[in-house]
Amino acid sequence: MRIDVITIFPEFFSVLDVSLLGKARRGGVIDVGVHDLRDFTHDRHRTVDDTPYGGGAGMVMRPEPWGEALDSVLADDDDATLIVPTPAGTPFTQAIARELAAEKHLVFACGRYEGIDHRVVDHASGRVRVRELSLGDYVLNGGEVAAMAVIEAVARLVPGVIGNPASLDEESHEDGLLEYPSYTKPASWRGLDVPPVLLSGNHAAIAAWRREQQLERTRRVRPELLGPEGPVD
Ligand code: ADE
Repeated sequence: MRIDVITIFPEFFSVLDVSLLGKARRGGVIDVGVHDLRDFTHDRHRTVDDTPYGGGAGMVMRPEPWGEALDSVLADDDDATLIVPTPAGTPFTQAIARELAAEKHLVFACGRYEGIDHRVVDHASGRVRVRELSLGDYVLNGGEVAAMAVIEAVARLVPGVIGNPASLDEESHEDGLLEYPSYTKPASWRGLDVPPVLLSGNHAAIAAWRREQQLERTRRVRPELLGPEGPVD
């Protein structure tokens, strides 16, 4: 998979060198390019923003550097997906992460200020798939942190990034429920014991206990995930 990121803060993405993602990059499983939007400006001040038409507070990112940056990164690739993190986007979910993990080329456009002139999205929609994605109902200072979150959620689903792919199957959200609580040694710690069923060796009883824990936790913390019909098996 190829991932390109366009941002005015390329240094933000140095964290892509560490941990499993760094390993995936070095191993050639994921190829990442980070591009400075200001390299696509032509004035002395490397200006990327301006005041909003119609008035209002804050600044909007001008379309010209974005157009040039996207021309450069997309080149002739019409099979890419442009991802624009924005609090006005579709909520990002594990299901979307799974869809994106099957793609060959993702391009992230990280806006700052009050966002990017909307013609950039309109123009890009004429040549590639575009997804405006929101991390949640809160406002960050820009798209960088959201892009990092999406990149991490997607990259770990790309075959070869996680050593033991079975560990992906029982995670929160993979079956529409939150994950059951996990325990390891010692069996007793500070007066707290691991639930005895987990030490029983009875696999059916353990599976039933875990399922019940998933349901109880989901009902308590995220009842909306269950819907009117309850979980889908
Ligand atoms: N940019 C600013 N806030 C954001 C959010 N909540 N999700 C995605 N991108 C953002």
